[in-house]
Amino acid sequence: MAIFIRDSYDEMSKAAAKQIAKQIKDKPNSVIGLATGFTPIGTYRELIRLHKEEGLSFKEVTAFTLYEFLGEGFDVIKPYGLDKSSARYMHEEFFKHIDIQKKNIHYFNGFTSNPGKTCAEYEKKIQDAGGIDLQLLGIGRDGHWGYNEPGSSLGSRSHVVALTRQTIDDNYEDFYRKVGLTKDEMPHFALTMGVGTILDARKLILIASGVKKASVIKQALEGPVTAQITSSAIQLYAGEATIILDNDAASQLSNIEHIKHTEEMSKKYGFRAE
Ligand code: PGA
Repeated sequence: MAIFIRDSYDEMSKAAAKQIAKQIKDKPNSVIGLATGFTPIGTYRELIRLHKEEGLSFKEVTAFTLYEFLGEGFDVIKPYGLDKSSARYMHEEFFKHIDIQKKNIHYFNGFTSNPGKTCAEYEKKIQDAGGIDLQLLGIGRDGHWGYNEPGSSLGSRSHVVALTRQTIDDNYEDFYRKVGLTKDEMPHFALTMGVGTILDARKLILIASGVKKASVIKQALEGPVTAQITSSAIQLYAGEATIILDNDAASQLSNIEHIKHTEEMSKKYGFRAE
């Protein structure tokens, strides 16, 4: 794992966008997995800027969204704000601002009446696309990545998950209360790529910002590896994992000095150390 610590949310976002842009420049037809939530918004804004001002093209890119709420999906009738689907978020916050082709955008169908089948089909689509080259991830306060809540097997493929009370409360405070919905009216289930699906990606970027993520970042990165903190599986990951944190999210890590030293040495000698 290469860990980068940045002074602010903006710097974290720019660093994440830079890695994604590099991936796309190196391989224009990259298959990218994308996360939703508050954390990646700055990353998407920076990628949009790179597209508009510096000619970064997503024309050949294929995108897979990490999860979807069951019962939600891109609903053209509801205004953005009431429609909390990942599909709508990705459209509003990213896809409509860049040159990605519609045919290359993949979502879970949150309106499905057969979630198990939908998940199996999603796995097949990922395989058919050649697998995910780079997966962008946030982290929940209960340790989830994707919506792999505590108890999701570390080998899981895409599956249906019941959201934890903590996630429901966080989603309520972040979105649903603001639009006047009750906790009963908001989604309690999600379709998510599994931990195993995430671990199959060739590269991972995990981003986290703010003091409220500090404790879970310590648990995920310093262990133990456990299905109770599904993102702790990153410690077993065989590909190239880059973790980009702001100072607050990194604040409980026990080896900050070494992390910073490693990055400095990598820069100085021009190779990736982790
Ligand atoms: P957040 O969500 O970026 O809105 O904090 C992260 C997550 O739940 O994965």
